[in-house]
Amino acid sequence: MSTPPIASFGRDYLAIPGPSVMPEAVLQAMHRAAPNIYAGELIDIAASLAPDLKRVARTDGHVAMYIGNGHAAWEAALANTIAPGDKVLVPATGRFAHGWGDMAEGLGAEVEILDFGKRTPMDMDRIAETLRADTAHKIKAILAVHVDTSTSIRNDISALRGVLDAVDHPALLMADCIASLGCDVFEMDAWGVDVMVAGCQKGLMVPPGMAFVFFNDKADAVRTAMPRVSRYWDWSPRANPQEFYMYWCGTAPTHHLYGLRTALDIIHGEGIEAVWKRHALLARAIWAACETWSDGGPLELNVADANNRSCAVTALRLASPNGTALRDWVEHNIGLTLGIGLGMAPPGDPAWHGFFRLGHMGHVNGHMVMGMLGGIETGFSALGIPRGQGALDAAAKVIASG
Ligand SMILES: Cc1ncc(COP(=O)(O)O)c(C=O)c1O
Repeated sequence: MSTPPIASFGRDYLAIPGPSVMPEAVLQAMHRAAPNIYAGELIDIAASLAPDLKRVARTDGHVAMYIGNGHAAWEAALANTIAPGDKVLVPATGRFAHGWGDMAEGLGAEVEILDFGKRTPMDMDRIAETLRADTAHKIKAILAVHVDTSTSIRNDISALRGVLDAVDHPALLMADCIASLGCDVFEMDAWGVDVMVAGCQKGLMVPPGMAFVFFNDKADAVRTAMPRVSRYWDWSPRANPQEFYMYWCGTAPTHHLYGLRTALDIIHGEGIEAVWKRHALLARAIWAACETWSDGGPLELNVADANNRSCAVTALRLASPNGTALRDWVEHNIGLTLGIGLGMAPPGDPAWHGFFRLGHMGHVNGHMVMGMLGGIETGFSALGIPRGQGALDAAAKVIASG
């Protein structure tokens, strides 16, 4: 048996863009015997979640909770608003927009994709043009991914509302905040978002398993006018339960409720605006390091303009096969796991090994980010990958200046 590398023992660090690092308090809250689902504190905990979730989403609207992942949230949002034959517009800036569009197609929707590539955000002029041409208002909804986790592009959802209003188009504005909620600034009501989908496993710091659909009265009116809505996905009883079982259309995700309650307490203890500021600061430190590295070597930030980058995830390019080599080295030798490149090249293509991603969402602070960057520097050094010098200094300066 080969001896494990000397520096590999110790606490591992999973720095992938979800599932994210979970606070010990969340894990401890979940570590308990099965609670009663017919009486007792779980009933009160469940009722307390919706208002605190809405505070994170910055909405006075409604929220329906599901047992499921992000795909479940996608399906739930569509099942309540899009009937077979209805048309949706999907402005795509990465793999996840295509994924949501594909779910819509699976439900019988007509899907029009506007593909903006993998490095720049949505082009609002092109979207305006498409909406203007839709004089019959066939487009019932725009499925917009706020932060596409594959490319780390952050789209301007508020500007999208501006476009819809400017061309006076009634389509629902639906936003995927699965990567961004609790990390990047998001204002559901102020930005005029009608439906927003999220999961619990990224900014909300809970193990995968709960999905959320936030919706306003306009979206609810669309749901009421649907020819039929599946009983399971129907958001109405979940958002307004007459009895406890209706929250989840059956047995509640008992332990997740304890975890989520604790996570929401942590988020609101820090304050959502402070959470956003922390993510922005740490992201700027990461970008400062990456920009320094890229000055003297092949590393490249996928998104050139910092204004278009997410504060939750950073996608990087590193001439194949160095992306995979770096990930493998840091995981095996120092206990640091970085994210794979996703959707940037087809699996099986040698180019696939030229990408990786950093997750910096949720329960992440300054020393963790410095540790991750130090780990990458160490991997570069071990593999002899050329790079600009002073990346850690650059990151430290950002965090030090707060
Ligand atoms: C932006 C975005 N949308 C949707 C999904 C799909 O979520 P899940 O894998 O939990 O089904 C993900 C997952 O990473 C995501 O990042």
